[in-house]
Amino acid sequence: MTTKQNDRMPIIAGNWKMNHDHYQAIQVTQKLSYQLDKTDYEHVEVVICPPFTDLRSLQTMLDADRIPMALGAQNCFHEDSGAYTGEVSPGMLAKLNVKYVIVGHSERREIFGETDETVNLKVKAVLKYAMVPILCVGETLAEREAGGAEAKVAAQLVAGLAGVSKGNIATLVVAYEPIWAIGTGRTASTEDAQAMCAFIRKQVEEIAGVAAAQSLRIQYGGSVKPGNIGELMACADIDGALVGGASLDPDDFARIVRFG
Ligand code: 13P
Repeated sequence: MTTKQNDRMPIIAGNWKMNHDHYQAIQVTQKLSYQLDKTDYEHVEVVICPPFTDLRSLQTMLDADRIPMALGAQNCFHEDSGAYTGEVSPGMLAKLNVKYVIVGHSERREIFGETDETVNLKVKAVLKYAMVPILCVGETLAEREAGGAEAKVAAQLVAGLAGVSKGNIATLVVAYEPIWAIGTGRTASTEDAQAMCAFIRKQVEEIAGVAAAQSLRIQYGGSVKPGNIGELMACADIDGALVGGASLDPDDFARIVRFG
């Protein structure tokens, strides 16, 4: 396991997307917990982000078995309550001991039309309920090839963090997920991933100052596997990973939690 040269607690989160019903969720999480021990949890914060329908079952299980994994949600609406058919409020998630909420995942931006403005409203709503947003940013392949990757990510950060206090920004997680690397088996090179994560930290420094930039955690996401997590986690500005496909398998995910 790599020892990092900073005070940021590494955070490995599994984004299950629309996979695993609540029976499967319990099985998979139990299998995962059998493979992890106290030392693992001391070195890494382990987060499971299942579909909404699994949250209550997992909360009960983690609580009963005293498993120190955190729960995350994959999305929420920004209003507290009201006539918003089909939506889930941040308050409802907080009541389930949800600690993290993924906000602005590229699939939500691309398939469900989320904009930087709605993402910003969600970031603030999640913070209002004392949960931590995992703010997703990242460029398309066309944007990268046109040399516009940094501009895209900078704009997403500025808009996503608008009106958020420096103190809150310091607690946040930003996930850098190049869209062309998601579910494609094509990972960004370690150099490219580190370069963009360093750029993100620099942008956050401009927005919220050095202290916030140094304490905010940055994850890389996009085809993370047991075979590439080690070199990613060795990078100075990569504090964790947001894992899709490989988080569905408890053996693979346990290896990722152990950095390979
Ligand atoms: P994959 O790990 O399946 O590429 O998904 C990445 C992702 O989108 C995590 O949020």
